Amino acid sequence: MQKLTIATRPEYSVVIGHDLLRNAAYHLADCWGSECFIASDSTVAKLYLPQLQSALTAAGKRTGEVIFPAGEANKTLSTVEKLLDAFARFGLTRSGTVLALGGGVTGDIAGFASAIWLRGVPVIQLPTTLLAMVDSSVGGKTGIDLACGKNLVGAFHQPRKVLADLDTLQTLPEEQRLEGLAEMLKAGIIRDPDLFAQLQSEPQSALSEEAIARSVSLKGAIVAADEFERGERKLLNLGHTAAHALEKISNYRLSHGRAVALGLSLVAEAGWRQGITSASCRQAIAEALTRCNLPRHSPYSMEELLPAMGLDKKRAGDKITLVVPREIGDCTLLQLAIEEMPAFWGATRELKV
Ligand SMILES: NC(=O)c1ccc[n+]([C@@H]2O[C@H](COP(=O)([O-])OP(=O)(O)OC[C@H]3O[C@@H](n4cnc5c(N)ncnc54)[C@H](O)[C@@H]3O)[C@@H](O)[C@H]2O)c1
Ligand SMILES: [Zn+2]
Repeated sequence: MQKLTIATRPEYSVVIGHDLLRNAAYHLADCWGSECFIASDSTVAKLYLPQLQSALTAAGKRTGEVIFPAGEANKTLSTVEKLLDAFARFGLTRSGTVLALGGGVTGDIAGFASAIWLRGVPVIQLPTTLLAMVDSSVGGKTGIDLACGKNLVGAFHQPRKVLADLDTLQTLPEEQRLEGLAEMLKAGIIRDPDLFAQLQSEPQSALSEEAIARSVSLKGAIVAADEFERGERKLLNLGHTAAHALEKISNYRLSHGRAVALGLSLVAEAGWRQGITSASCRQAIAEALTRCNLPRHSPYSMEELLPAMGLDKKRAGDKITLVVPREIGDCTLLQLAIEEMPAFWGATRELKV
């Protein structure tokens, strides 16, 4: 078992190990407040809600729960409204706690509902996907999608604690493992060459306690240094400008993780052409994606992708900040005007947004 501290204010801990849900009463005793309300999706609830409930009930805790249908399509305001209604019926007070049991969708929805219920009640994240363990449960970003775009509405709301129970990964489908793996490779390229090398040589080790802890610790350090994404936290968007454009133009048929893999490949290619990314870094990224069974050849041309990139949420006025790798473990932020984007990405047509 590993326990990491995320040094935001206030700070919180991330516990990574086995048997955590069954021993939730022990692990949460210092932070769960007067009552607990569990939010979970239909798939995860079937698998893991009973053991969590019995752990809490055995400890004499008043608990309630709300279960919503699984899937990104339900990361909406109307699901948040269902949660808020359920909090009201349960009588969740400011001294109670919300427990988000599930993947990134559950964490984002339950985190957002906790951020706005009574102007903020504590949330504890209990991630059950690799992606949620290494990425979404840490850092305090919460939110929902609108019809016109993903993650457009949200709030920063750091969790009070995170328990990543590795036993839950046993039921995770292979496709879902790849989603997390893409984000872990990203983390390695940003700042952890050893993690990158380990994943490259042994992709299965992504599920190990050590690799998950390394990824969490890297994200935690960046988030603690820049909680509200004014500078350094932007590094975590490596590969994401192209990824968001790819997801959008594929009508979200391309999963986020695969889009991130392609985004890493595209930015390494473009960075190399611009003389920013070293040849060995570009080569290492290409090899790692292949070894990890992630795609690296975009099904769309740059001309198709560029207009969608111009609409990226991370755009500020007429500027876009791109994260470009120099070496594995060393990335730089590059601010480009919208007109400079086609030249950077090697497109032939002008960008119209
Ligand atoms: N807040 C952040 O900082 C942040 C960062 C990255 C991604 N995200 C968000 O996270 C979401 C993606 O997260 P995700 O990939 O975990 O998706 P998800 O929560 O939809 O989970 C994927 C699927 O796996 C199922 N599942 C979850 N745990 C399981 C388990 N242990 N065994 C079997 N099935 C299981 C779920 O029911 C779901 O069907 C996106 O909405 C994305 O925007 C947020
Ligand atoms: Zn991502």
